Amino acid sequence: MWRKTLEVLMDNMGEFVSGEDISDQLGMTRAAIWKHVDQIKKEGYLVESVSRRGYRLVEIPDKIDEVIIRWGLDTKVLGSHIVSLNSIESTNMVAKEMAIEGSKEGTVIIADEQTGGKGRMGREWISPSEKGIWMSIILRPSIAPAKAPLITSMAAIAVARAIEGVTGLRPSIKWPNDILIGDKKVCGILTEMQGDMDIIQFVVVGIGINANLDLKDFPKELKDRATSLKLECGESVIRADVIREVLREFEDLYSKYMENRDSQSIISAISKNSATIGKKVRVVGVNMDLEGVAVAIAEDGALMVMLDD
Ligand code: BTN
Repeated sequence: MWRKTLEVLMDNMGEFVSGEDISDQLGMTRAAIWKHVDQIKKEGYLVESVSRRGYRLVEIPDKIDEVIIRWGLDTKVLGSHIVSLNSIESTNMVAKEMAIEGSKEGTVIIADEQTGGKGRMGREWISPSEKGIWMSIILRPSIAPAKAPLITSMAAIAVARAIEGVTGLRPSIKWPNDILIGDKKVCGILTEMQGDMDIIQFVVVGIGINANLDLKDFPKELKDRATSLKLECGESVIRADVIREVLREFEDLYSKYMENRDSQSIISAISKNSATIGKKVRVVGVNMDLEGVAVAIAEDGALMVMLDD
């Protein structure tokens, strides 16, 4: 319930609101509002309480909380339902369960910490508490499963644009789903889907952004291959700002694609920012290990590689 009071304070950020006004708006007693404000302060928000003037929210902490994320979020579908969790094994796992149970398109599951974060090909994804953006988005696109890689591409473009928008850094995209700054990985995307031959039932797009990790937060073997926004900018980012931008950019690309089914703009955006095209690559899959030069991205989002032979 304290979140309702927080919403009122956030809507009036920097301004005093009297306890009476809040209790009128929410239909609660002033004693209840007082308790909420006490809880809000304990959660780390800076609230001034002045007798006869009321309460004034002065500072919002860098927290993963649905109220903060929703504040100023201007998307229609992505983020229309946000579930914020303190600690969970994997947001992709929760998202898949929720999707199976019928959660609507645009539902976002976000956690402060993952204890069993999943990377591609069964790898582990380091997800320390309060340091990163660990989130999964449920989508229900009416497209053929073969087109699903395009969704990952859209997410990658959205993350790259959001990072650039918030920090001014210029990320590149390593096909299909890594976002790099320089030659170090700052974000990975794990897309999982359920469907049959012709149609997708749901897609879960799991996005992991190393926002405020310090060097000590990376295991030894990743220290020279991974980075964070904080390490690159020299200062912490407000995670909710990055999340809102990702959702906004992603919705923009996704809604346009669902309307006109034209993958060309996605392909050209990803090719323009590509850390892969023109490079010698090794393609490692479950049952393959090939070498060649990445030449282009195909219409369905697949990477085209010219093999050595
Ligand atoms: C990769 O590059 O291997 C993909 C990493 C994907 C990590 C994100 S964090 C949020 C979501 N939940 C998970 O368990 N994994 C994805």
